[in-house]
Parts: sequence; structure tokens; C-alpha cells
Amino acid sequence: MAGLARLEYRGYDSAGIAVVTADREHLAMAKKAGKLAILAQELKDRPLPPGTVAIGHTRWATHGAPTDSNAHPHMAAGGRIAIIHNGIIENYASLRSELEAVGVVFSSDTDTEVAGHMIAAEVDDGKDLAQAMRDVTRRLEGAFTLLAIDAREPQTVVGARRNSPLVVGLGDGENFLGSDVVAFIEYTKKALELGQDEVVEITPDRVVVTDASGAVVARAPYTIDWDATAAEKGGFSTFMEKEIHDEPAAVADTLRDRFNEFGKLKLDGGLIADTILGSIDKIIVLACGTSSYAGLVAKYAIEHWCRIPVEVEYSHEFRYRDPVVSVKTLVVAISQSGETMDTIMAMRYAQQQGASVIAIVNVQGSTIAREADAVLYTRAGPEIAVASTKALVAQITATYLLGMFLAELRGNKFPGEVRAILEQLGEMPAKIQRVLDTAEPIRALARSMAGERTILFLGRHVGYPVALEGALKLKELAYIHAEGFAAGELKHGPIALVEKDLPIFVILPSPNGPGSLHSKVLSNIQEVRARGARTIVLAEEGDEVAAKYASEIFYLPEAPVLLTPLLALIPLQIFACELAGAKGNDVDQPRNLAKSVTVE
Ligand code: AGP
Repeated sequence: MAGLARLEYRGYDSAGIAVVTADREHLAMAKKAGKLAILAQELKDRPLPPGTVAIGHTRWATHGAPTDSNAHPHMAAGGRIAIIHNGIIENYASLRSELEAVGVVFSSDTDTEVAGHMIAAEVDDGKDLAQAMRDVTRRLEGAFTLLAIDAREPQTVVGARRNSPLVVGLGDGENFLGSDVVAFIEYTKKALELGQDEVVEITPDRVVVTDASGAVVARAPYTIDWDATAAEKGGFSTFMEKEIHDEPAAVADTLRDRFNEFGKLKLDGGLIADTILGSIDKIIVLACGTSSYAGLVAKYAIEHWCRIPVEVEYSHEFRYRDPVVSVKTLVVAISQSGETMDTIMAMRYAQQQGASVIAIVNVQGSTIAREADAVLYTRAGPEIAVASTKALVAQITATYLLGMFLAELRGNKFPGEVRAILEQLGEMPAKIQRVLDTAEPIRALARSMAGERTILFLGRHVGYPVALEGALKLKELAYIHAEGFAAGELKHGPIALVEKDLPIFVILPSPNGPGSLHSKVLSNIQEVRARGARTIVLAEEGDEVAAKYASEIFYLPEAPVLLTPLLALIPLQIFACELAGAKGNDVDQPRNLAKSVTVE
């Protein structure tokens, strides 16, 4: 339970444990929806029999709402085997049908339970738990960390991983497995990494790592040099830094397994009939704050791909301005928390006017997800820092998917074009990683600017919402006046703000490609440099011209114009985070703010 408490930040919508006791045919188990405290109370009211071999799980739901029955562990073999799982088993539906065809009865909607019954079947064929795990994981597609125990192997826990974390803690007369070293760091700082598709078998005095074929793999232990609180943040000093570094995975996970065999977008919940989606004549995005900037990026992409007008509205304004809404309106409600009251109320208003609603939400089972007609979950994982980062890039990714789906459904873009965009999207996680790997100069610049009192941000086209978000991050975290502008708007008044050495970030589009706005934005840079501004330019790598217009320049990997926000946002998030840290601010809990604004 102490280990689960340290892992709770990773997912907190349900929790459970299963324990090996003296009963060789049944494990003892307790699992409850809600925070870990609810499980702790359950264990106080109804203690489990004693045991020293157990598995525990706090859940961040992906398949199946956060309920008691969907909480992990999941039982198989009549309660003799238990399994817990992080990740997504993409082929669980076909595997589940195979199992149901031979009479297996399921007690949850989760993809996890499928793996449990598959392991039980292998053990029934006479294999030990480790061999059963090896044979089952070979048949699974997707990303997973799996742990299993069997009452008939009372001293053993078996684990397996693919594209999902699992580390071994090497204790004295005891051994541990955890998604993160924080699960066991108070008992041992000696750990062992596991490679892709490896299976580990632990007992109190033995750790055996094998590859998928069963061949033993030699692994050198390492010593963890973090303390427990640092480990919760993956070694970063703040959750915000950790979450910025989660962004490649947030985009990759949100993209993963999104189209079925017919190339149709797979929503995560609910359904809106193709006839409705095919007949809409307007899209209204409802959101607040950072999420509204995802909506602004979506406007450029979806209007281009779908030729449908997209209005982006602050939820708190929308409901009170007697907007034009009809059955031909598709509302897209974007929210990380899924609990923003402004957006909940605006969505309900739109539904009363006959509109259909698709929600793009990060928290499974949240109010907005439940009340929408359909849901496209971002899979960014729990976002703890109040300032939203990885959820934003995941939201933008989800809006691209929605745009491509609508374009294909309505015939504006043909499969070949959509496939090309999907391929370019698939390259973005690696490009985001490259930006993260070369971000030290941005951090150094931020530390040098900790005393600044005003910073402006300029961008055109999809660079405009990036400028707005860059300014919001700086307001939220560094408490200084920052403002984002459409670069072309400056000369219509705001340029009066510009004076010598005023720092201005400029998001400069690529010079390549048809209709490039590169020269337009260079002119805007000229306008402010002529008045003494300090121009900090984000440009596409290889753009030598840009350097002549920049006091400082940071290069970003090449990407199609509409996808560039996924890259340009990163340096601005890092800049704000680092500058706030240099000022001694509480980066994860900025003053006056809350992670979810559940009041209107
Ligand atoms: C973003 O950094 C802020 N925390 C805030 O603007 C946030 O995006 C806004 O309150 C909307 O929250 P939601 O995405 O959970 O609906």
C-alpha cells in the first residue's frame, strides 16, 4: 500500500491488491474505484489474510470506466491467478472473442482481463507462470506492463513489459517489481532495468530475467540516486518538467491504434452517426485556457482539410451570447480534466440546442466524457502540474485525427492524402524528442531573463495560437505580463508597446512550401527590430536567413506547417517553466490557480 501511495500520482481513479495467503487455490483480493484512501478504508473494514507476496495497482483508465469491477487486479482460474496491467492491449477484442468462444466468462470491460484468462489457460496446460507469461505476451499487440501471481506458486511474482515501464527492486531477502522505482525506493535503492519483451520472475531470494524465447538475460544492477519524491517526478525537479518530457509518448499514445481495418477513426466511447457527421455545416470548439488554443490550431487544420467553418469559443462566453447552434452543428468540447464547469455548462447548452458533441478529454470517465455523444480520449496520462503541457500536444494530435476522419468521411481529402498526413504525424514524437534533447540553450536564456517584466509573443496562422499559449504559460508560471499577438496585428496598435530591448518571441514559419508566410513574418520582425526590440526567433532548421533577424535564434525540426505547433510549443513551455523556477516560484502549483476550474 505504501508503494501504491507513491505511485498514485500516475493514476488515481481506482486501486486494488491481491495477496497470496495460506489458501493454495484462492488469492485474497480487495479493489475499489476512487482514490487509494478508499481502498485503505476497505482493508481496514475488511482486512485480508496475511501474506508477503502480493501485487497492487493504481489505475489510469483507458478501457472501461473507473468502477470496482474494472479496477485491477483481475482474477482468472476461479480466483487462483491475478493480473495487473499498465498500457493498452490493442488486439484485446479478438482475443476476448476467442476466449468467450471456449466458454470463458468475463467480469469486466477491460483489456487486462483478457491477458489474465490467457495466462490461466497456459498454466492449465501445465506451464509455470513465467512460461505462461512468455507465451501469452508473444500474442499481445500494443504497449503493456503485466504482473501476475498464482496461488499455487506462493513465492513467485512474474512480470513482463513492452513499451511500458517495469523495474526490479533488489532487496535483502525480498525483491520488488514496480512501474517506477518510487514503488520500492524506501526498501531498496538497488534496481534492475528490463529490456523490451523481457519476462522477469522474482521470489524472495531470486530474480530471473529471460527474453521472449526463455533464454536467461544477464542484467547488471544499478543504484538509484534519487530520493523518493524526486523519483515520483522521474528524476525531474517538477511534475511540469516531467510532463514536458512525456510529450513524445503523449502524442504517440494518442495516435496509437486509432483507425480500424477499414481506415475509420475509432472513437473511445459513444457514437455519432455518419449521416450526422456527413451533414454538419459548422463546427464549434468549446474550451478554456490552454485547451482553447488546441481548438485554435484545430480551426486551421480542420477548415483546410474539411472545408467546414470552425468557430473557436471560450466556453464561458459561448453560453451567454445567444449563439447560432442547430442540429447541423458539431460541437468539439476540449478539456484535459473533463470537469471544467464553464465547458460542461456550455456543452449542455449546445446539446439543448440540438448539437452533437464530441469530447476530446484526458481523464477517462470525467463529466464531459460521460455527457458527450462521443469521446476521443487523449492518452497523455495523468497531468499533475497545474500548467497544462503534455495534454495540450495530445489535444492538438486528437483534433488532427478528428479532422482527417471528417475529411475522409465527407470526401474532402482522399485516403492517399490522409495517409500522408498520418505518416507525417507519426514522425512527430521523434521530432518532439529532438527538441527536448536540444533545449538547454532555451533554459539558459530563461534563467538570464528572470528579471524581465514584459515579454511579447508573435505568430501567424497556426503560429498565432502558439504565441497565445507561450504568453499564457509565462503569465501562469512567472507571474509577469506576457501577451501573444497575431504578428500582422501589431502594426494596428500594439506596436506602440515596443521599445528598446523589449523581448519578443517570434514563431517564424518555414521558408519552404507553397503559400509560406515566412517573408510576411520577417517583415513583422523588421517592424519591431526597427524600434529596438530584442527578437527571440523560433525558426525551421536550415533557415539561415532567419538568423539575420534574431537577437537569439532556436531551430526546430522541419514539419508540415499545420503540424508545427507540436514543435514550436515545446521551447515556450520549457522557457516559462525554467524562468519561473529561476524566480523561485512553485512551478507545479502556481499561485491563484487550480488544476481543474470546477466553478463557473
Ligand atoms: C493551462 O495551463 C491552465 N491550467 C488552464 O488554462 C486550463 O487549460 C483551463 O482551465 C482548461 O482546463 P481543462 O483543459 O481541464 O478544461
